[in-house]
Amino acid sequence: MCGIVGYIGCRDAFPILIKGLYHLEYRGYDSAGVALANGGEMNIYKTKGRVSELEAFCKNRDVSGTAGIAHTRWATHGEPNNINAHPHYSESKNIALIHNGIIENYVVIKDRLIQNGCHFQSDTDTEVLAQLIEYIKELNNIDLCAAVQLALGQVIGAYAIAVMEKGRPDRLIAARKSSPLALGVGEDEFFIASDASPIIEYTNKVIYLEDEEIAVVYRHEAPKIVTIGNIEKTREIIQLEISLSQLEKGGYPHFMLKEIFDQPRTLRDCMRGRIDADCKQVVLSGIRDHKERFCNAKRIIILACGTSWHAGLIGEYLLEEFCRIPVEVEYSSEFRYRNPVMYPDDVVIAISQSGETADTLAAIDLARRAGAFVYGICNVVGSSIARNTHSGSYTHVGPEIGVASTKAFTAQLMTLAMMSLCIAREKKTISEERFLRLLEELNRIPDKVERILRADESIKNLAGIFTYAHNFIYLGRGYNYPIAMEGALKLKEISYIHAEGYPAAEMKHGPIALIDSEMPVVAIATDNEMYEKVISNIQEVKARNGRIIAIVSENDAAMKDIADYVIEIPATEDCFDPLLTVIPLQLLSYHIAVTKRRDVDRPRNLAKSVTVE
Ligand code: AGP
Ligand code: GLU
Repeated sequence: MCGIVGYIGCRDAFPILIKGLYHLEYRGYDSAGVALANGGEMNIYKTKGRVSELEAFCKNRDVSGTAGIAHTRWATHGEPNNINAHPHYSESKNIALIHNGIIENYVVIKDRLIQNGCHFQSDTDTEVLAQLIEYIKELNNIDLCAAVQLALGQVIGAYAIAVMEKGRPDRLIAARKSSPLALGVGEDEFFIASDASPIIEYTNKVIYLEDEEIAVVYRHEAPKIVTIGNIEKTREIIQLEISLSQLEKGGYPHFMLKEIFDQPRTLRDCMRGRIDADCKQVVLSGIRDHKERFCNAKRIIILACGTSWHAGLIGEYLLEEFCRIPVEVEYSSEFRYRNPVMYPDDVVIAISQSGETADTLAAIDLARRAGAFVYGICNVVGSSIARNTHSGSYTHVGPEIGVASTKAFTAQLMTLAMMSLCIAREKKTISEERFLRLLEELNRIPDKVERILRADESIKNLAGIFTYAHNFIYLGRGYNYPIAMEGALKLKEISYIHAEGYPAAEMKHGPIALIDSEMPVVAIATDNEMYEKVISNIQEVKARNGRIIAIVSENDAAMKDIADYVIEIPATEDCFDPLLTVIPLQLLSYHIAVTKRRDVDRPRNLAKSVTVE
């Protein structure tokens, strides 16, 4: 995962690089490091831990220089310690390199280089790149860019790299394959970064490198882009529309809380221009332009990971209910390796907040090779998945910084709901009356989310009661079963409390053995067809002394006698319930994590963008 950032221009590089690393820290925070070119010198400082530790470490050290590269690491190979931190040096220490990704054949290359006299310092896969580039450069007496080309030609795996050479403060080299890399284009200054967040303060002009492309970046001229095979390329400069304030906390203590509270607005943004003012039409241009593919699809396969996979499960319920198309929801990581049966008239929907998840990207490649039409639901504009799909819809929630996904998830649900209604109307699998009723209700969802957010204080109090727990169970049925899993995932990732989400009726097939007076059970029991059934499941828990927190529809008097704690939410159509029921669960996990003093926005071992498999 890792975040990489580079600067070359006329200003001091160090403050720009450190600030850039803070923006990218969501990608990994095991260690951090920086290399600065200053005339004929190159200074490297690196340390275990967070960016703030690197900043402190650099105090009173020589950080001058107007070119540099910096890295915040999420370790894949080699423990997170000072030596394994990036940048890595070549044998002579003339080359410094930072890397995001995995070099799969690093053992073979490393053995060969050792036989040829190289001495390795770290346990990382990355160091082979620095060593190999220098080895090839010296052996063939060629320029750094040519050596990078030849070295990358030997590498199997994923990389975004930035390379600097001692005595050449006038030039940075960057390259990528399967890991993201953006180039920021300023006035006599250029930036390199894993995403646009370190760049946007200085320029909104960016170039996204494509796979196997190398950029040679000088201070005073346009970057030269060539492929590994030495074919020159011209890449379009894109004007970004995000602002710095969108990347900041706006008065909230954590990005996650800001993002939870952002949801009424982000859901409106997601619908904007898609549902017309009088709620009679829903238009998604990606669907409109390819409606035959959807209408003729014999099957839809949804590919995603983590929270996006949970959105996919709800997508399955929606698409099957309204469009009458069979849907399979697959973990991208399983799909890509299991030789799946695919037909050319399959439609694949890939869901990803970051648009960079390595497993989802690889699964998309597989589906495309099998001839399927691939539709992306992504949040990050211009991301790799958005670029590698035939068509798609952006969720339009702006940057999501908290590692635990919240506003991107609800917008994925909103997008899937709009897509389902759009296709169903086209296929005539929904009556006009039901279509209009649902569209009106969808339009009311942001207001209802706003009402739920008013319960924040009482959910905070509830969280205080349950911080003792080491385990949690979440139960839901129908549309709310994936929400039970999502609630459990949110709690796990930020509070480190073990939690499981189950379809409520499955309890008696095993998990009920876990219930005792210590076990909190969060049951989603809103007013829908399944209500009575869920009540019975809750009674089974109560009979075994489990402690029940129930999420119910407003004015549910009955539940007050059954559950220990009740959180009320406004009523809605069953199919839109997840858009509401997930909100109290997000708040509950947030407050439990804060009470337990966890690092909510940057939970241990996780990273926002999983660009390694
Ligand atoms: C969400 O809270 C998680 N951090 C994680 O499961 C995430 O949803 C998953 O890694 C998929 O990411 P993507 O949506 O960017 O592809
Ligand atoms: N493989 C490199 C390391 O472990 C980079 C990891 C990454 O990008 O996630 O240091």
